[in-house]
Amino acid sequence: MHIFRFDSLESWIKTAASLWRDRLRVRPRLKTCLTSGHTPNPLYAAMVAGHRQNLVSFRDTELFALDEFGGLAPDDPGRCANMLRHHLVDHIDVPPNRFHTFDPDAPDLDQICHDFDLAIGSGFDLTLLGIGLNGHLGMNEPGSPADSPTRRVELHPQTVVSAAKYLTHTQAPTWGLTVGMKRLLASEEVWLLATGPAKADVVRQIVHGNLTPDLPASLLRHHRNCSLFLDDAAAAQL
Ligand code: PGA
Repeated sequence: MHIFRFDSLESWIKTAASLWRDRLRVRPRLKTCLTSGHTPNPLYAAMVAGHRQNLVSFRDTELFALDEFGGLAPDDPGRCANMLRHHLVDHIDVPPNRFHTFDPDAPDLDQICHDFDLAIGSGFDLTLLGIGLNGHLGMNEPGSPADSPTRRVELHPQTVVSAAKYLTHTQAPTWGLTVGMKRLLASEEVWLLATGPAKADVVRQIVHGNLTPDLPASLLRHHRNCSLFLDDAAAAQL
């Protein structure tokens, strides 16, 4: 695991955006898995700005939402796909049919997960992940083994509480659909993103604690090309 520690959020954003633009230049058809949530939003804003300045194009790329909440209305701004659209996808030139999302309202969710896996095909080139306070990746909650498939999951109580921050109402989701650990660990390159003091403890556990499915993010220590992008506050306990 490579650890990149930045002394300001600005340098964290600038460096991650520059590296991402570079990956897209080298491989325009880059297949990228995108985390939603609050952490990646400044990075997405920088990519949108780069696109407006003609520094980067997503025309030939394929983007995949990492996960999706169940039980929220299709137009709920707290849905993962809607967050990704709002912060990134609606402002770049990725063709609509190359932004892949989960439909949690479909009658057959096993089929939805199967189809999503088919769309991923040979695997992700780049996977962007946030970290839950409980060490989850996407909705791979504590207890998710390394071979977890893309599937429907029940959310950990801490995730239910955390999800409230994305919502404008109090009907927090209790389940979701997620790309499984197996696909995440098979990604050619993984960027684990963490900023702010609230993530310092879980970052310490990921880097120095036990390697265990009880802390799914710790399993990335097995990955051959995983980079941890931290600002000073998130790196404070290393
Ligand atoms: P956050 O979510 O970026 O909003 O902190 C991270 C996560 O739960 O994966």
